[in-house]
Amino acid sequence: MTLETAANTIMERCDILARFSEEPDRLVRRFATPPMKQASETIAEWMRAAGMTVHQDNIGNVIGRYEANHADAKTLMLGSHLDTVRDAGKYDGPLGVLTAIACVERLHERQERLPFAIEVYGFADEEGLRYHSAYLGSSVVAGTFDQNILDRTDNAGIPLAEAIRTFGGDPDNLVASKRPSDDLLGYCEVHIEQGPRLEALNLPVGVVSAITGHSRFSIDFIGQAGHAGTVPMHMRRDALFAAARVIEGIEKTARPQQGLVATVGQVTVEPGASNVIPGKVTISLDVRHQDDLIRHLACHQLEEQAHQICASRGIATQWQEVQDTDTIRCTPHFIRLMEQSIEQLGYDAHVLPSGAGHDSVALVELTNVAMLFVRCKGGISHHPAESVMAEDVAVAIQVMEQFFTLLAHEQGQA
Ligand code: GLV
Ligand code: MN
Ligand code: MN
Repeated sequence: MTLETAANTIMERCDILARFSEEPDRLVRRFATPPMKQASETIAEWMRAAGMTVHQDNIGNVIGRYEANHADAKTLMLGSHLDTVRDAGKYDGPLGVLTAIACVERLHERQERLPFAIEVYGFADEEGLRYHSAYLGSSVVAGTFDQNILDRTDNAGIPLAEAIRTFGGDPDNLVASKRPSDDLLGYCEVHIEQGPRLEALNLPVGVVSAITGHSRFSIDFIGQAGHAGTVPMHMRRDALFAAARVIEGIEKTARPQQGLVATVGQVTVEPGASNVIPGKVTISLDVRHQDDLIRHLACHQLEEQAHQICASRGIATQWQEVQDTDTIRCTPHFIRLMEQSIEQLGYDAHVLPSGAGHDSVALVELTNVAMLFVRCKGGISHHPAESVMAEDVAVAIQVMEQFFTLLAHEQGQA
């Protein structure tokens, strides 16, 4: 398979996976749902066709393995996630899984084995859309999964443990799916950049230096529902007016602070009728900064501010932290190998941080990590307009293959 065919196949396969959605008119593929089953089964077929043995682990990750040229060889992990956000693009996640499969398929076609085995992971959850906690799939593989969240329910009241069981997994034995680390060389992930920097530099790919730390909260505002026509304004305890003030404060706090980003992406109003005063509001809050101390201070400040606003309006508020992940650095040695691979292909090796979260955040607890970003059109992501070019995907395949060659040299058996 030529490079061009391999890149075009990846693009076509991204289109195919984008059809496996919970909603007919937009792409939504949450953890352990029937469309996720279709995506996993399709990925498993493509893995088998590329010469891999395949299994699903106890959380629902799909894992393909391509053996090395000798017994007792080490293993390089590749991959990304198969779940999506709501109204997602086609490339965030699947691009990494499919590029990994394409690299293995090209080895298989040439009947070539490397001095290390390759394992390709299609992680079952990275976005955390269904259970609000990211990296469910990769944290099981890393052995850092938090058992306390197995009782957490989704919007339909289904506990995480039950969703895992329905998907064919085993919530009681997730520890068995921790990947032993003794034979691992590391984990490498190809991912759409999701930002505008590579496009501005006119570069097809770039190397990730670090992944920004990240806090997520679920915040309840509890007031008093009542009749929209009869309760005078000064007697109201309107949960939504309080939440609106708090949201405004979040923007005012975050805007002037260099590198701080804060997002309220979900607002639920109850009981939710035009002629009823909102009695309860729940919002999500996502806060990120490369400096963990600044992020924690900002979160603390936002919580204090919210308590003050709510106290002055007779509104009770409850902050629940649903995620707190520190900034991670990619492995310096792997960054250098990735830079060399890019330079040997004749491109400038640009190193950039990631504002988006990735499975490497969980896997850095297990092994070395590296990420290769692919240029993104207009920096648009988490949106159906997300777009990459087949030519850039072809470069990503080449960089990965060069990376394998450098790693093989290091194993002394090129
Ligand atoms: C995942 O894409 C995240 O950064 O939230
Ligand atoms: Mn994403
Ligand atoms: Mn992603």
